[in-house]
Amino acid sequence: MQIKPLIGALGAELLDIDISAPLPPDTLAAVRRALFDYQVIVFRDQKLTLDQHKQFARQFGPLHVHPYILAKPLDGHPEVLRVVKEKDDRRVFGEKWHSDVTFLERPVLGSVLYAIETPSKGGDTLFANMYMAYETLSDGMKAMLEPLTAIHETPVPEVDPATGRPLEPMRLVNKRGEHPVLFTHPETGRKLLYLNTTYVTHFKGMTPEESRPLIDYLCEHATQAAFTCRVRWAPGTVTFWDNRSTQHLPINDYHGERREMHRVTIET
Ligand code: OGA
Ligand code: MN
Repeated sequence: MQIKPLIGALGAELLDIDISAPLPPDTLAAVRRALFDYQVIVFRDQKLTLDQHKQFARQFGPLHVHPYILAKPLDGHPEVLRVVKEKDDRRVFGEKWHSDVTFLERPVLGSVLYAIETPSKGGDTLFANMYMAYETLSDGMKAMLEPLTAIHETPVPEVDPATGRPLEPMRLVNKRGEHPVLFTHPETGRKLLYLNTTYVTHFKGMTPEESRPLIDYLCEHATQAAFTCRVRWAPGTVTFWDNRSTQHLPINDYHGERREMHRVTIET
């Protein structure tokens, strides 16, 4: 396996590796290390069945089932989330900068996104390095953020967007997480800024109005160009991101073309 860094901030391509079969222990350890060193790792020209996709992800931890997205489920594979934009859809899944499901009580380890169909151009994904976001703050700002807890929430739809049927109440649990703004990554021991504008509504003990300007400032700081990398997709590309130390942004620039990905998310 070869590791080819994408750019300065984060991200690497892992070459000469086939992830469709269980990885030998030393290769698995090297992939794990690359994930935590580079935060976003990209595999090219893979060919995965639904079971192989899940099998790859399961080598890193138990699989997560999304608490409320029922749209476009895959029969027998509740752990696989279909991320689809049809030709005529105006919106894309995950529209703004975010990390996945941070409204859960326990942050997830990461997601493995596999490209099935990609537009002829566009549809890239940006990733931002939240260690750099933390490290470049002033000592004064770091000290101010140290005691703060962020409330991460999501509005859960009352009906399934796909079927129009009411969601089962059990699907509505776990939609509010409280996390320290400065989070120590359990694998690397490094501190990072753990915030995103999609799910963070306010700081604990403060109102949304009081919190918003600071959340917006910090997220803008975190997503400046020098802290990001950009992944271009082709069918067969697999991108595995550390969901605790990164945020991501899908670029909605391919109207008129279809894009389909499968996502599997891993718990800790
Ligand atoms: C996701 C997501 C980005 C993309 O699957 O969690 O945000 O580019 N996708 O499809
Ligand atoms: Mn996402």
